[in-house]
Amino acid sequence: MAAAASKTAGVRIDDSIKREVLARTDIAEYIGQFVTLRKRGNSLVGLCPFHAEKTPSFHVHPDKGFFKCFGCDAHGDVINYLRRAENLTFPDALRVLAKRAGIEVEAENPAAARARGEKEAIYAANNLAASYFHRVLALESAGEPARQYCERRGLDRATIAAFKLGYAPERWDGLVGELRAGGIDLPVALAAGLVKAGQNGGYYDVYRGRLMIPTYAATGEVIAFGGRALGSEEPKYLNTATTPVYTKGRHLYALNAARRAAGKDDAIIVVEGYLDCIALHGAGFANAVAALGTAFTPDQAHELRKVTPNVFVCFDADAAGRAATAKSVDILRAAGCNPRIVALPAGDDPDSYLRAHGAQRFRALLDAAVSWVAFALDREVEAIASGFTGAAEIARRGEALLATHVPAQERDRWRVYVAGRLGLSVDDLRKSRLLTNPLHFAPRGPDGGERGPARAGRHVMPGAVDAPSFEREVLAIMLEEPILLVAYAKRIPPERFEDRVLRRVYATLVDRREELLQPSDIRALFSEDEEASAVLDAIQGAERSVTVRFAESADRCAYLDRVVERFRAADLQRRYRELDSLLDRLHESGERIPTELREEHRALLTKLKG
Ligand code: UTP
Ligand code: MN
Repeated sequence: MAAAASKTAGVRIDDSIKREVLARTDIAEYIGQFVTLRKRGNSLVGLCPFHAEKTPSFHVHPDKGFFKCFGCDAHGDVINYLRRAENLTFPDALRVLAKRAGIEVEAENPAAARARGEKEAIYAANNLAASYFHRVLALESAGEPARQYCERRGLDRATIAAFKLGYAPERWDGLVGELRAGGIDLPVALAAGLVKAGQNGGYYDVYRGRLMIPTYAATGEVIAFGGRALGSEEPKYLNTATTPVYTKGRHLYALNAARRAAGKDDAIIVVEGYLDCIALHGAGFANAVAALGTAFTPDQAHELRKVTPNVFVCFDADAAGRAATAKSVDILRAAGCNPRIVALPAGDDPDSYLRAHGAQRFRALLDAAVSWVAFALDREVEAIASGFTGAAEIARRGEALLATHVPAQERDRWRVYVAGRLGLSVDDLRKSRLLTNPLHFAPRGPDGGERGPARAGRHVMPGAVDAPSFEREVLAIMLEEPILLVAYAKRIPPERFEDRVLRRVYATLVDRREELLQPSDIRALFSEDEEASAVLDAIQGAERSVTVRFAESADRCAYLDRVVERFRAADLQRRYRELDSLLDRLHESGERIPTELREEHRALLTKLKG
């Protein structure tokens, strides 16, 4: 990096350029493209793009030209922002901003482009390729088949221009020739995934006879392509694999175009396909992005969360799409998003639906989107309805899933919903509540067998999808009043936690309990730990009801005491069951029963009854 700086130092990468860039770049406008900012006093506030958070602590001061996050302490000017956000070197960040502000940094020539490093070179190659493909589609006679294809699919001129769609003609050396003429080194184009190396030391085009769809980074560079076959040849889409500027699963298609509208609407629509996304933009839904295939990733969820937590998931209405929906809802929840599920008629995707029914009907689908709670409940209800027949069992499990999915004050509303879906009365459900209270330990495990010590605290719910709620509630309380850790660490040991992540978080708290005096100490402890931070966010959000219920320290202690008492009772019960079956076995086989065991058995029984 020192070498790069000195090499370019003579060519106006200096303080005067930096000052000019800072003077000509409105930091709020720039950052506002990527982070939804709202005005508060003299500054603008949003969710920090550099760490996971639920309440905004990221401040931008347009008059002073800097940003600062009070959560993770990231701060600096707009150049620092870009360096961090895009992982760029100082000269590269400066170049991006200079170009945007129309400041000449250095003459464009291939030698300079080489010196700029591989990434910049790949951007240049991709950019040239995008322009070439677009030109062929828009103007050249070789583009005729693709023009017909676009017409059939309702992709008009404006859309083609807005998304810079293109066509890679049916030949081996179209792009290769163009790259040569443009002074792009072919090894760079190889690294960009645009060409392949042939037998004879030459290169040939990767994309032939395909509609070309470029993907842009937030900073405006072309980072990847999807090439759709015009007919039924395989693969349907040929996509850029991983390159130095693109990692599959980390980006979302059209996020650059959707960012502004998504910020304004405070909602974003995620679809599976390129053309679904393009069709939505064409129909006026400028806040649509595409996950590109069915594997929606945590990285993508995190990208969305930076813009808005409100995510409409609108995947294809086929088996693959439905499976992807379930998975992505979990991923979005974990990232702190509030997903809603848009149900398309079977066999449709957003593109086909819009073509058949129009924008207004799609708007109605969005309005009717199902909250993630209902979606999660539906999934469980289906499993219950198909796997269990007894009404009592169904009611018990219905209640249990409310306990795991829904904050206390909203349960009644959802109880009506679940009851309806299960064909039970709300009263049936309520009556079953006693059985599913997380602090009520049923005498036997779900399999009817013995349970090990680690499982003693688990409430009985076969196929539970969430941690037992005492784990979340204990964590919620400790988050409010970390001092209690010292008092309860011995009696509520981390080993009692079953959920892997919750146990890890709680174990860390217990380890460090001496230094944790107030809630912010806990957040600071996990500031680098995304998984833990996300869990803490979720607990603080979802368990607010609990922490409100436990507004007083005395109430919190009373709750924790109850947890301890239940552990003790569960341990006694487990021991009693162990002894009971042991005595049974000894009795059956006619062996002598040791007096101590008989006495312990009797003592336990008395204790359990009392
Ligand atoms: P779909 O098969 O649903 O395609 O794949 P689509 O988006 O509806 O496209 P059209 O309407 O048939 O043209 C959804 C997405 O999955 C990825 C692409 O991103 C596609 O948009 N995909 C699909 C691939 O990457 N490769 C493939 O071979 C197929
Ligand atoms: Mn489609």
